[in-house]
Amino acid sequence: MTTKNQLIKQAQAAMKRAYAPYSNFCVGAAILDNNDKIHAGCNVENAAYPLGVCAEGSAISNMVLSGGSRIKEIMLVSTGENLVTPCGGCRQKLKEFSDAKTKIQIFHNNQVTEFSIEDLLPHSFSKENLSK
Ligand code: THU
Repeated sequence: MTTKNQLIKQAQAAMKRAYAPYSNFCVGAAILDNNDKIHAGCNVENAAYPLGVCAEGSAISNMVLSGGSRIKEIMLVSTGENLVTPCGGCRQKLKEFSDAKTKIQIFHNNQVTEFSIEDLLPHSFSKENLSK
């Protein structure tokens, strides 16, 4: 199976684990890291709504826990009718572990749409901005 298909499969499996009783909007993510390992994540909501966690953040935490440090590719899937592009907060989280070559991909209607972090978060704030 191609890496892309593995990412789609793992993102879909993660989406099935989503805990989204409030929005009924399930999201799955699968990251290919710098060690060529795959880490999945799903959204986990909470009765205190703002405390919910997005699928991207969950996959990033799993990557870091497993020793990964950079995102080569990420694949997103959702139960939504429209393309699930990452929310603003997730764009900033992805920025931390992405570079110009990182592929941010969404599988929707049997098609993969690809973005770069620059597409999604131009003029972003990152560790370079913190230098004194
Ligand atoms: N969600 C994600 O997991 N990732 C995104 O990039 C967009 C939104 C989740 C958060 C919430 O559980 C549900 O989708 C509806 O916003």
